[in-house]
Amino acid sequence: MSHFISLKYFSSKEIEELVNLASRIKSKPSDFKNSLTGKSVGLLFEKSSLRTKTAFYIGALQLGAQAIYYAPEEVKLGEREEICDVSRSLSAYLDLVVLRTFAHERILEFAKFSSVPIVNGLSDFLHPSQALADILTIQDLKGDIKKQKIVYSGDGNNVCHSLIYACAILGANLTLAIPEGYLPASQVLDEAGSYCKISGGEIKIAGSIEEAGRGADVLYTDVWTSMGKESEKDERKKVFKNFQIDDKILAQAKSGCIVMHCLPAHRGEEITASVVEGKNSVVFLQAENRLHAAKAILNYILKK
Ligand code: CP
Ligand code: NVA
Repeated sequence: MSHFISLKYFSSKEIEELVNLASRIKSKPSDFKNSLTGKSVGLLFEKSSLRTKTAFYIGALQLGAQAIYYAPEEVKLGEREEICDVSRSLSAYLDLVVLRTFAHERILEFAKFSSVPIVNGLSDFLHPSQALADILTIQDLKGDIKKQKIVYSGDGNNVCHSLIYACAILGANLTLAIPEGYLPASQVLDEAGSYCKISGGEIKIAGSIEEAGRGADVLYTDVWTSMGKESEKDERKKVFKNFQIDDKILAQAKSGCIVMHCLPAHRGEEITASVVEGKNSVVFLQAENRLHAAKAILNYILKK
């Protein structure tokens, strides 16, 4: 059985297959209309979601499957019921579970007891379905991912970690602008270093967003305060204030630079309103691509 928990369990060939499948689904959705008829997909979310929930829920329906959504207050993993019992019970009803949670260990624990595939719909550590849609977006708009200077500014957590894995495995060039104390986990950077040796990719840490952003083909950011970290909001605003994507940073990037954000966006914090609404912004195409990527993941995993 194959889960979709981290991109690090996938080879470059498999990630390319997934991106190409997403691309095919995007260009001809009718070809995949009944591909998952008879399958049932559960979405178990312990945090809020707009895009991930809609992409997997509607994506499942568009592929002919059925979907059921459990909101954060419904199941109360580990509170009303042990993770191992929820996992084994749902395995009896469903063919796949998309799980959004806090600690990544909760996904691993859930997967350990599941007899159906688990898709990581975001944990504090990773957001792999986002990264897949991001690669699709970059490839669609800019072509070969290996030829781009991709810059990520912000917190070195879930979205950043999955982007690092994707870039390292695929052989892309990623520069990070991240304040001290918020750098990606050393485990992720070490593993990425090993993948880069094989793929020819490069993951660099720059001293500032000004330095990182010069000549960028892609500027990417995410919220400074992720879900679950709300009590640190004020402190984070101070720490991250010099890591905003604004018109000045964009002006130093290449002229056709695309600006990406996984959303939700906080205008005036990690990105200015003028950049998110500006002509370089592709955030809503990126959001759309979450649907095609989600469908590709469901199709790929359930057809295996
Ligand atoms: N980008 C993303 O995962 O959005 P949601 O949190 O709304 O699902
Ligand atoms: N880093 C953000 C991503 C939201 C899609 C969070 O975890 O809240």
